[in-house]
Amino acid sequence: MENRIVSDIVSPEDVSLELSVRPSSFEHYIGQEQVKHNLKIFIEAAKIREESLDHVLLYGPPGLGKTTLASIIASEMSVQLKTTSGPAIERAGDLAAILTSLAPGDVLFIDEIHRLNRAVEEVLYSAMEDFCLDIVIGRGEGARSVRIDLPPFTLVGATTRAGALSAPLRDRFGVLCRLEYYETKDLAKIITRTAEIFGIEVIEPAAFEIAKRSRGTPRIANRLLRRVRDFAQVQGNDCIDLDITNNALDQLQVDKQGLDHIDHKLLLSMIEKYRGGPVGVETISATIGEEVTTVEEVYEPYLLQIGFIQRTPRGRVVTELAYRHFKMEVPKD
Ligand SMILES: Nc1ncnc2c1ncn2[C@@H]1O[C@H](COP(=O)(O)OP(=O)(O)OP(=O)(O)O)[C@@H](O)[C@H]1O
Ligand SMILES: [Mg+2]
Repeated sequence: MENRIVSDIVSPEDVSLELSVRPSSFEHYIGQEQVKHNLKIFIEAAKIREESLDHVLLYGPPGLGKTTLASIIASEMSVQLKTTSGPAIERAGDLAAILTSLAPGDVLFIDEIHRLNRAVEEVLYSAMEDFCLDIVIGRGEGARSVRIDLPPFTLVGATTRAGALSAPLRDRFGVLCRLEYYETKDLAKIITRTAEIFGIEVIEPAAFEIAKRSRGTPRIANRLLRRVRDFAQVQGNDCIDLDITNNALDQLQVDKQGLDHIDHKLLLSMIEKYRGGPVGVETISATIGEEVTTVEEVYEPYLLQIGFIQRTPRGRVVTELAYRHFKMEVPKD
């Protein structure tokens, strides 16, 4: 896969960066006002009743702050956070081991929850609903079912694909939170905060310029800031100004809308080879040499969000806005 600065691919460098700049309270979690407002109320109410918080499902595109929110929820509830992921829980027994290790009120965070297998998912149903486990021990005639009581706990599930969740699982979450792409002004605040942690100054117009090119995504904003900082420091500058920013982002081939060379390849091949569509996602993926799921989950959501492509029953279509972005004439049929 080509190196992609605005992708959601998480590098080891990202992991250490994310830990150092990840907000640990609602106060530092910028934007997503509606989600924050509701969660604060539900947390407050659970605390008044001295109950565990109802199960929470967080969904939305990569890098918008789902994992961050899960840890904030645990810390606001003053309970421990246990983290795992859908693909990591292979057998029902693995899940039983995790659930029986929880203390009352703890938060169990399951990332990529749409990737749980069937057998594990079914065990989760009774755990979520009745705080108990029904487990079959032994085989054949000697098999018997035992019931184990669990402490009340909060399941926080995260997924980039809410649609891939089975209905019975989705229905067992009391709180559903959909994270939205961030507004430029909020991303600029995140960039300014991260720069402070890095110990480098970024002037406001520069923070806004990075924000505008970050595809509404905090992870990308922090990553672009880090690259712009490289350019600034190599030039012996301890302040990030607009010139350095524009120059660095141009060198990185991130355009004014935050699109990079893969987005360009995708849009231009639709325009040049398929007259702007409609064209099926399988065809687009084959043309640019990417997996269909990657195109659907990583590249398309933002292009749809900014209105550069549209989904139609006959396939994807490039819009007038995209033609104008490339200063190309819209074909007349
Ligand atoms: N609201 C926010 N305010 C400030 N920083 C944020 C916010 N949301 C996310 N971030 C930053 O973006 C990084 C990525 O967020 P996070 O890992 O929580 O995203 P995610 O939704 O879990 O992504 P994925 O779907 O890839 O797991 C965090 O480390 C944090 O630094
Ligand atoms: Mg995450």
